[in-house]
Amino acid sequence: MFEEAQYFAPVAANEDGSVTVELAKSHPGFADPVYRARRNAIAGLAVGYTRGEPIPHAEYSEEEHEVWSLVTRELAAKHRKYAVSEFLDAAEALGLPKDRIPQLEEVSELLRPLTGFRYIPAAGLVPLREFYSVLADSFFHSTQYIRHHSVPFYTPEPDVIHEVIGHGNTLASERFAALYRLAGQAARRVETAEALEFVSKVFWFTLEFGVMREGRELKAYGAGILSSYGEIEEFRGMDIRPLDVTVMGTTVYDITKYQDVLFEAASFDHLEDVVGQFWASCDDEMIAKLRTTA
Ligand SMILES: [Fe+2]
Repeated sequence: MFEEAQYFAPVAANEDGSVTVELAKSHPGFADPVYRARRNAIAGLAVGYTRGEPIPHAEYSEEEHEVWSLVTRELAAKHRKYAVSEFLDAAEALGLPKDRIPQLEEVSELLRPLTGFRYIPAAGLVPLREFYSVLADSFFHSTQYIRHHSVPFYTPEPDVIHEVIGHGNTLASERFAALYRLAGQAARRVETAEALEFVSKVFWFTLEFGVMREGRELKAYGAGILSSYGEIEEFRGMDIRPLDVTVMGTTVYDITKYQDVLFEAASFDHLEDVVGQFWASCDDEMIAKLRTTA
């Protein structure tokens, strides 16, 4: 199975219809029964969700809204310094609330007039093919829970801050949204597990952890960097390599630590030419050939 499987807390459906999220002992919320009950309830919303319906309302505590507010404020300051201009313009256009966690339905309504993207709630891990292929139809699977309030700048798993501040702001840009859709079309076109993994790795090293030259500076556009309080300060010191689909599609990464190998696009046009074109045209045969040349 792919590494992503270890990233999300497992979700178990119980016989009585309830849902249990199995947090690891090392999870900051492990010993907090109130947090765990909320996590179970929020996961239950996603398990019972049917696409096309409004996304059910998730309940958050005051402390959780404060986490959102604090992290939003801190990240916005870092974005002004480190994010590509396309992201900053998109975030401005989207206008996420700053003082409370938005509901996913609300984020969908903000995105709809900009790029047509909509959210689908996810309880935890979504199978790779399902996650990527619906991007082609402008749907984005998203977790709805937020990190534990005791550690506002840390999460061991992708939470609503990552999904909405990282991906949501990006999906408000038509240029980025087009790239997400192309990744989805590629995932739908390829048939083998190896080809799908290759497509997903290119996504990982671009739309999750991509960096881009803007003038003299290296900026970030990947949602994983832009939603991480620590990583956003570190990416310029990482091993920065030229954008190369074959290398990205075959590089092994560890999701549990800061990404130490990053790939730099020379410009947005460069990203579209190299990665957009790859997703627009790749198939099993092409990827099998690329894998043998890696
Ligand atoms: Fe992500």
